Amino acid sequence: MSAMEELKQKITQEIETATDLKALDEIRVNALGKKGAVTGLMQKIATLPPEERKSYGQAVNDVKTALETMLESRLAVLKKKELDARLIKEAVDVTLPAYDLDTQGSVHPITQTIEELVGIFADMGFDSATGPSLEDDFHNFTALNFPPNHPARAMHDTFYITPENEGDEPHVLRTHTSPVQIRYMEAHQPPIKMVCHGRVYRSDYDQTHTPMFHQMEGLMVDETTNFGHLKGTLKEALSAFFGVKDLPLRFRPSFFPFTEPSTEIDIGCSWKNGELVIGEGDKWMEVLGAGMVHPNVLKNCGYDPQKLQGFAFGMGIERLAMLKYGIPDLRTFFDADLRWMKHYGFMALQRPNRAIGE
Ligand code: PHE
Repeated sequence: MSAMEELKQKITQEIETATDLKALDEIRVNALGKKGAVTGLMQKIATLPPEERKSYGQAVNDVKTALETMLESRLAVLKKKELDARLIKEAVDVTLPAYDLDTQGSVHPITQTIEELVGIFADMGFDSATGPSLEDDFHNFTALNFPPNHPARAMHDTFYITPENEGDEPHVLRTHTSPVQIRYMEAHQPPIKMVCHGRVYRSDYDQTHTPMFHQMEGLMVDETTNFGHLKGTLKEALSAFFGVKDLPLRFRPSFFPFTEPSTEIDIGCSWKNGELVIGEGDKWMEVLGAGMVHPNVLKNCGYDPQKLQGFAFGMGIERLAMLKYGIPDLRTFFDADLRWMKHYGFMALQRPNRAIGE
């Protein structure tokens, strides 16, 4: 056997028995690298007599090509072997139980309270509506009979949004949900029974005020709607909400531009060992504003105030949630603190099983 053939056999055997990529690469360098054995044989061509060069050159080249092919196929085999080994080593057992991440969500008390109230009013036949947070001056103020110099219209009480085009009327972040009542009256004909709810915005921040909070308002309009309907509706709704039969209510005279007469409504309560007890005792707690819809408001919505009359009421959702669920600080509603949510939040299955009108 020629030396060349012997070398070929030796390297072939090495390739076939190489067990990893590193060893295979060493074999390649030793055979075909700059100083490799086969490369050495090729360099010998120049030193041969011309008549031997061709056949010798051909033979060396054949050896080189054969080895290259073998290296390539062994490389593929070893790569697959390495990948298989890695897959086995890094295998993830998907049948193992997952870590308990304790990330079950809960329902925010605001959402819970809104759904309870919407449900209570739905039981009494009230539709539920929502409207835009960004309002025009007409729906937030003018249609609601706010005089031009009313303090709520002042820059320091209300968030005005700079209009896109100079000269356009600035919009406001609605300061109450009453504009939804206006929009509802524009879109419907009486008889009307509706509640609306959503976020409202005022430039205020202290322990009992946040720049954003939630309101729910109600409206009933028909030919004979009167103050007795207002009283009966709120007595029924608040008794249901607080879970107190025949909850005592007190009506105090008040003022709103959009209602006449206007009233503020308190619920009966008392304090026992520092705890608020709703529905018992001789103390009063203010919970909402209300009144008979001002004739100007009906007129602004295209209704005839000679024929139609109605009542409206409005309340703060946070305040009701604080009273019912014993939450002491308004600001904590919006801190997004998961520990707070865990404590005050509601399991999805504890909620009323309907969200009517939404
Ligand atoms: N819109 C009033 C407010 O934001 C609440 C209200 C509504 C009062 C309807 C009376 C009637 O304060």
